[in-house]
Amino acid sequence: MEIYCTKDYEAMSRKAAAIMAAQVIAKPRSLLGLATGSTPVGLYRELIAGCTAGDLDFSRIVTVNLDEYAGLPGTHDQSYRYFMDHNLFDHINIDIANTHVPNGMAPDPEAECARYEARLRELGPADIQLLGMGRNGHIGFNEPGDAFIAPTHVVELTDSTIDANARFFASRDQVPRKALTMGVGAIMRARRVLVVVSGADKAQAVKAAFAGPITPQVPASILQLHPDVVLVGDEAALAGLKGAGCLRCG
Ligand code: GLP
Repeated sequence: MEIYCTKDYEAMSRKAAAIMAAQVIAKPRSLLGLATGSTPVGLYRELIAGCTAGDLDFSRIVTVNLDEYAGLPGTHDQSYRYFMDHNLFDHINIDIANTHVPNGMAPDPEAECARYEARLRELGPADIQLLGMGRNGHIGFNEPGDAFIAPTHVVELTDSTIDANARFFASRDQVPRKALTMGVGAIMRARRVLVVVSGADKAQAVKAAFAGPITPQVPASILQLHPDVVLVGDEAALAGLKGAGCLRCG
């Protein structure tokens, strides 16, 4: 595992974007696994700048997203389809038909999960899977539980996740209670996993995930079993690893 500790959010975004950009340049037909949340926004901004400058070409890139809220259409400003379009896809030369996000409005969410999983299998392993992390150690919407769940599945969001995501909605009541998420299977099949974390409120989860036991109570801890993980975080988010003697920052 490679760990890059950066001074702040902006430096984290530049470092992580450089890793994604290297992938896009090295393999113009890459399959990129993408993530939502506030953490990757700066990274996406850097990729947009690279594309605008003519340094990055996304015309043959294919993407798969981790998750989507159940019950939100792609036109809803808190849906993850909307997030991806507005924070990345609308600003780069990607073919939107090559971008995949689970359909939160599918009448039968279980069937939609099966369809999405089949599509993931058809596309093959992601060349690189980007991940943020929830404060409870969740990845995608794989919430803490009794077991790791491999395929794409419907999940009941935990109170902690609903609380954390309420800031994006008019009120907590409006946060969907369910989501469709890629399971840990497709995440672990990715050739490389790039985890981005920023801020002191992630420090505990980062420490538990990478310096604690591998347990479904901390879903990100399964990444300890992946052969090629790159963790890019700012000093505040990596403070717990530093404390555990796993890392020297600066
Ligand atoms: C959501 C997403 C995750 C993301 C997490 C953290 O729950 N499903 O994929 O990693 O939020 O978000 P943030 O980066 O805003 O802290």
